[in-house]
Amino acid sequence: MTIANQHWDPDRYRQNAGFVAELGMPVVELLAPQRGERILDLGCGDGALTAKLAAMGCVVTGCDASVDQIRKAREDGLDAHVMDGQALTFEGEFDAVFSNAALHWMKKPDAVISGVAKALKPGGRFVGEFGGAGNVQTLRTALRTAVAVHGVDPDAADPWYFPTVEDYRARLEAAGFNVRSIELIERPTPLPGDVGGWLATFGESFLNRLDPTIREGTVTALRASLRPVLTDPDGVWIADYVRLRFSAVLA
Ligand SMILES: C[S@@+](CC[C@H](N)C(=O)[O-])C[C@H]1O[C@@H](n2cnc3c(N)ncnc32)[C@H](O)[C@@H]1O
Repeated sequence: MTIANQHWDPDRYRQNAGFVAELGMPVVELLAPQRGERILDLGCGDGALTAKLAAMGCVVTGCDASVDQIRKAREDGLDAHVMDGQALTFEGEFDAVFSNAALHWMKKPDAVISGVAKALKPGGRFVGEFGGAGNVQTLRTALRTAVAVHGVDPDAADPWYFPTVEDYRARLEAAGFNVRSIELIERPTPLPGDVGGWLATFGESFLNRLDPTIREGTVTALRASLRPVLTDPDGVWIADYVRLRFSAVLA
């Protein structure tokens, strides 16, 4: 399924972005899931962390807007549903809603947060991590500039919501949550290969707006301009990730 001009292919995702779920364990620890708890994994992707929560004894449901990701999660035996996180339909069923690396793809944060509040039981918690202010700033600026040069509106192409702590705290509180913790975490992240894999996996909303005849050339130019900034002395690509990690309880 294509959301925000972005297609989520489970095989490509596992190959280029397996680190996303691997680096999600601190937020699982923040969730502190208890055996038998009903948990919603919001934007569960292919279900790598959903499966971890299930293995910890939780009764987990995953939801994601991508049909292909949900198909993969179901093949792995998970209870997973295709659903837009900005239009959740659950009501008072979960002890906790968990989310890793998904909320920044949803540009209507208030719709997400109110759907989460509705999905939770009284006193339920919302614990997550996603891209915060300054996330992948170097990559984002390069992509925005690259499409603008070819007459594409960078605001329309940009699929991300990377809020500040103040912005997200205010939205959580307005929806009736008490914020237990919220912080921005700089997390420079080594990529499993060349930046081209990252651009193909996460940069589609920009690159798909370009004429196919200039797409490859644009990626080649991006690689050349980013190499001096985003590789370490051994030539390993390091992406400038900044995460916003939070834990909130429904008042
Ligand atoms: C980077 S992946 C993270 C997946 C998983 N949580 C993990 O940690 O590996 C982002 C996921 O957000 C999902 N997503 C994007 N927009 C969404 C929306 N509006 N509603 C639900 N899921 C969405 C994508 O389909 C994708 O699977």
